Amino acid sequence: MSNGTEFYFYEDRVEARGMDIRLLRRLLSYLVPHKGLIALALAGLLLGTACQLAGPYILKLVIDRNVTPRVLDGMAGRILLYLAALAGAMGFLYLQMFSVSLIGQRVILHIRTEMFGRLQRLPVSFFDRTPTGRLMTRLTSDVEALQELISSGLVSTVGDVALLAGTASVLLWMDARLALVVFAVLPALVLFVELLKRFIREANREKRRKLARINAYLQEHVSGVAVVKAFVQEEKSVRGFDARNEEYCAESIRLTNFYSVYFPGVELFASVAVALLLWQGGIRVIAGAVTFGTLVAFLEYAQKFYNPIKDMSDKYNILQAALASSERIFHILDMEVSPEYGPVPSGGEEDAGAVDAWGAGGARRAGPPAIEFRDVWFSYPKGGGEERGMVLRGVSFALLEGETGAIVGATGAGKTTILNLLCRFYEISRGEIRLFGRDVREIPRGELRGMISLVLQDPFLFSGTIRENVEAGGAAIDRAVEVAGVARFSAAWDGGLITQVGERGGRLSVGQRQLVSFARALARDPKILILDEATSSVDPVTEHELQSALAKILSGRTSLVVAHRLSTILSADRIIVMHRGKVRETGTHQELLAARGIYHRLFTLQFAGR
Ligand SMILES: Nc1ncnc2c1ncn2[C@@H]1O[C@H](COP(=O)(O)OP(=O)(O)O)[C@@H](O)[C@H]1O
Ligand SMILES: [Mg+2]
Repeated sequence: MSNGTEFYFYEDRVEARGMDIRLLRRLLSYLVPHKGLIALALAGLLLGTACQLAGPYILKLVIDRNVTPRVLDGMAGRILLYLAALAGAMGFLYLQMFSVSLIGQRVILHIRTEMFGRLQRLPVSFFDRTPTGRLMTRLTSDVEALQELISSGLVSTVGDVALLAGTASVLLWMDARLALVVFAVLPALVLFVELLKRFIREANREKRRKLARINAYLQEHVSGVAVVKAFVQEEKSVRGFDARNEEYCAESIRLTNFYSVYFPGVELFASVAVALLLWQGGIRVIAGAVTFGTLVAFLEYAQKFYNPIKDMSDKYNILQAALASSERIFHILDMEVSPEYGPVPSGGEEDAGAVDAWGAGGARRAGPPAIEFRDVWFSYPKGGGEERGMVLRGVSFALLEGETGAIVGATGAGKTTILNLLCRFYEISRGEIRLFGRDVREIPRGELRGMISLVLQDPFLFSGTIRENVEAGGAAIDRAVEVAGVARFSAAWDGGLITQVGERGGRLSVGQRQLVSFARALARDPKILILDEATSSVDPVTEHELQSALAKILSGRTSLVVAHRLSTILSADRIIVMHRGKVRETGTHQELLAARGIYHRLFTLQFAGR
């Protein structure tokens, strides 16, 4: 199985494999920086347990030394001691809970940061095959499950074990024969717990899987709500959601059922233990073998003994869920980041080597081509593992510094793919891509991204202001905003550049969004500009603005454009005609028209009569 499939089906693949020491150890490694807090928590736990254990014993003392022999002397003191033990138990519990939650929150903060950082560095192909909803689940529910483990599972399990061991020791010390009576029910109880645990665990896993399905569905249908509405698919969309929702609900009910059997069941075993204790203990009190106080203390301890066992399975579930979650989280953390991720350039570094193309007016320099593809073969990595057909088949072309190259061709010809490869979002199968004579694989990723600015076909703006969006590109904001023509429309607004663009830039028109994305690309004054021209048409006025902005942007700047506009094509120095993954023709508009080949056909089809 390839790496991709493994991840895709990961949710389904995590089997109940019980404890995994390796995982546990890795989780524990996150606790190491918090040694102080852990010591505090453990101290609270041990002292709290001691206080809890002291309670019933003091009770026994009061009964045996004061109540039974009718002695008032020292009674008040013992009762005060009893109160003090209870208060101590509470106080230490507080100490323990507080420090443990603190640890939990800090560890989770760390893991979440680490995960987000890793996600940002994963190759683009990862996001092609991983549903967003599933990723959201990783970042939210899975991290929460881990948090629950740390804050409620881990330390309180240690606490339970301490309490169990402490109680057992005290019981054996007080009266070994009665202690055995308390333990007698244990084997049957453990069997019962084990059995139900198995069902509960399985139901829990199923429930989480169903939840992930709901999340994935929600994510897709919320982002695609406009399409859903446009195609009057609301009802179908709701039906799809209902189906998933009902599945989840049914699974939750199944789980609740198991719990409903579980808790009363454990209660029943505890009651049987108490009955046995009353019977055997009563006989021994009557026979004078143990005191009455001892019997009362035993009854108290028996409760304390069975309570943690009751929770034990719950704890085990938390642990199970958290281990499964952490396995998925670690899977992301261990995922290979894009190869040769070079050092991320710090702010100013990018500008240092940049060619100043502002108004450089077509100045060309001698030297190797700015962009060169040499016999490039490529196919998209496939989730299923089987090699699909090649998307690029032996693509070769070269573009000199300062030139504008226009890629044209039918939909699916591989135009966008060429841009993706130039940015090295994917690795090529064969051939070479060179920038200024250097193989892109030898250019550290940070430097590569610093050289190239990319304008996507569907401009993606982040929520925030226009200025913030442009700033994300680089430092030369004012000039970029001016050249891209953003200044013209934003000046008319109250907020100017600090107008909020809304989620994904939804408050701007399509044309405005494109202009902002131009400005963002220019703000870094890139050596190379890559542009996937939007196919969406805009009104003639905006179209004119886009064209004039583009003309300014492209002039004299090394750029590779997937061109749909006639004006862009006509102004290109070189046109590259793609057809089914191959470069079929290259040349200027005049040359290509004269050749009467594919370009001629495309051109007459697309632009005839304009
Ligand atoms: N992320 C992807 N994963 C798998 N296949 C893809 C991906 N992107 C594009 N393709 C496929 O590659 C081919 C070329 O796509 P593309 O370069 O986007 O074409 P164009 O931009 O010329 O319309 C198409 O057949 C398309 O289905
Ligand atoms: Mg495309």
